[in-house]
Amino acid sequence: MEYVDLRSDTVTKPTSEMREAMAEAEVGDDVYRDDPTVNRLEELAAEMLGKEAALFVPSGTMGNLLALLVHCQRGEEVIVGNQSHIYLNEAGGMSALGGIQPCPVQNQSDGTLALDDILASIRSEDVHHPITRLVCLENTQNICGGVPLTSAYTLQAGELAHRNNLFLHIDGARIFNSAVAQNVSVKELVEPADSVMFCLSKGLAAPIGSILVGTRRFITRARHMRKMLGGGMRQVGIVAAAGIISLEKMTKRLGQDHARAKKMADGLKQIKGLVVDAGSPYTNMVYLNLSGDVPVNAQQITEKLKDSGVLVDPENARRFRLVTHYWIDDEAVERTVSAFQKALN
Ligand SMILES: Cc1ncc(COP(=O)(O)O)c(C=O)c1O
Repeated sequence: MEYVDLRSDTVTKPTSEMREAMAEAEVGDDVYRDDPTVNRLEELAAEMLGKEAALFVPSGTMGNLLALLVHCQRGEEVIVGNQSHIYLNEAGGMSALGGIQPCPVQNQSDGTLALDDILASIRSEDVHHPITRLVCLENTQNICGGVPLTSAYTLQAGELAHRNNLFLHIDGARIFNSAVAQNVSVKELVEPADSVMFCLSKGLAAPIGSILVGTRRFITRARHMRKMLGGGMRQVGIVAAAGIISLEKMTKRLGQDHARAKKMADGLKQIKGLVVDAGSPYTNMVYLNLSGDVPVNAQQITEKLKDSGVLVDPENARRFRLVTHYWIDDEAVERTVSAFQKALN
C-alpha cells in the first residue's frame, strides 16, 4: 500500500530532478573546500539569507549545536524556549558537549518568548551566576503549532539581546515556511540574527542536510567545530546538488503545502470527535485533539488510520500533529479526511 505519510516533513524523499542532479553532481573533497557543488550551495544560502557566509552540515541538530558551541564558552548560559527543539529534542547536546547551561523561558502560544521574560532571565554580574551569552528563537515554532514569528518581533528580540551584549541565534528549521506564510523575505525575517540554522531536509525535500549562516568569522569557527564533531564530509556535493534544487525551486512551492494543510484542517473540523486547534494551521502543520467523549485514544486511532493507508505520529494520548509536504497532494488530503472519518465511526 502507498501510504499518505503525515508524520513529519522530514519523510520527504528526493524528487526525480534531485536524483538526476545528485547523479551528475560535480564533486571534490569538501574538507579541502574543493567541492564546487557544496561551494555553490553555501554561496547561494548565504546570499538568500543575507549573511556573509554559510556552512553545509549533516543535520539541523548539528547546525544548532555548532552555533551554540561557537557563541558560548563552558559555564555560560543560553536563553531558550521551554518548548523549543534545541531545549527538548537535541539530546542535551549543549550541556553534554559544550558545558553550556540552558535557561528555559516559557514559549507564548504565538511561539515567541516574552521580551520581559528574556530580560528577566539575563543574569546580573555576580560571582555566583553563569554568564548569559545567547538568546535562541525558533521560527516557525513547531510545538506551538508551526507558528511563524514576525520580523517585527525578531527585530525587538534582537535589539534586546544586542543591547545586553548577547547574541541571537534562530533555529529556522522551517524559516522558508515562515517567510512564505507571511509573504516576507527570509532575509528580512533573519536580519537581526547573528546566526541562523535552516533545514534542507524537511519541507524543502532534500534527502540530507542543513545550513548554518552568519558572519565569515563565525562560519570559519563553526567549520572548525564541525570537523571536531566529525561532520567534515568529503564528496558531499552529491548531496548538496539536491540542496541547490531545494533553495532554487522548493522554496517557491511551500504555499501549496500550507493551502493543503488548511484544506485538511477544514475537512477534519467537520468530523465529530475531532477538535482542530484554533488558528491551526499557520503553515504546514495541523494540530488537533480528540474530544473528551471519544472513547478511544490517539494510539488506537493511529492504528486504524494506518489500516486505511495514513501514517500519523500522535503527540500524546489525545493529540495529533499532521504535517503536509511535497508528497502530499490533493488526493492525499481527501484520503486523510476519509480515514479519520472511518477511524472515528
Ligand atoms: C524546529 C527544529 N529544529 C531543529 C531540528 C533538527 O533537525 P534534524 O532532524 O535535521 O537534526 C528539527 C527537526 O525536526 C526541528 O523541527
